[in-house]
Amino acid sequence: MKEFTISTQIQFFSTDELPVADQQLVKEAQQMTRTSYSPYSRFQVGAALRLADGQVFRGSNQENAAFPTGLCAERTAFFAAQANAPEVAPVAIAIAAFTDGAFTSKPVSPCGSCRQALLEAETRYHQPIRVLLYGTDGVYVIESVRALLPLDFDGSELA
Ligand code: THU
Repeated sequence: MKEFTISTQIQFFSTDELPVADQQLVKEAQQMTRTSYSPYSRFQVGAALRLADGQVFRGSNQENAAFPTGLCAERTAFFAAQANAPEVAPVAIAIAAFTDGAFTSKPVSPCGSCRQALLEAETRYHQPIRVLLYGTDGVYVIESVRALLPLDFDGSELA
């Protein structure tokens, strides 16, 4: 038997020690929570995705009475970017969540499906996507989506 460990490095910043560009992206994610349509969960998520040329695409979670029909904030932003600027690599994404009248204290973390979608973009564009997870306690910074989804399904076995 052999064993190996896959580890994830997370930096924990207070908001005001983040680089200015990251602070700005986090602010945009916070603002986007206001456009969330989430009458079922009452969990308002906002995302802001920066591309290599500086464009920012924004998203918020959009729910539906038929639950699986909805979409997370991250993929809303990401798919908008892919549809409108497919030639430009995504380089950073910020995420924030507002519920019960306040932003979450713990940094909000993307679901597995969003990680899967974002990770394929890292591979496609050969460019890591910096992940900024906001909470009032501070901001987790992870240097790539790869670190959040080890042993992913990358489609290489598909015929
Ligand atoms: N949600 C997101 O938009 N992003 C996340 O990272 C976690 C979950 C949404 C999906 C659903 O509308 C609500 O939050 C509750 O799960």
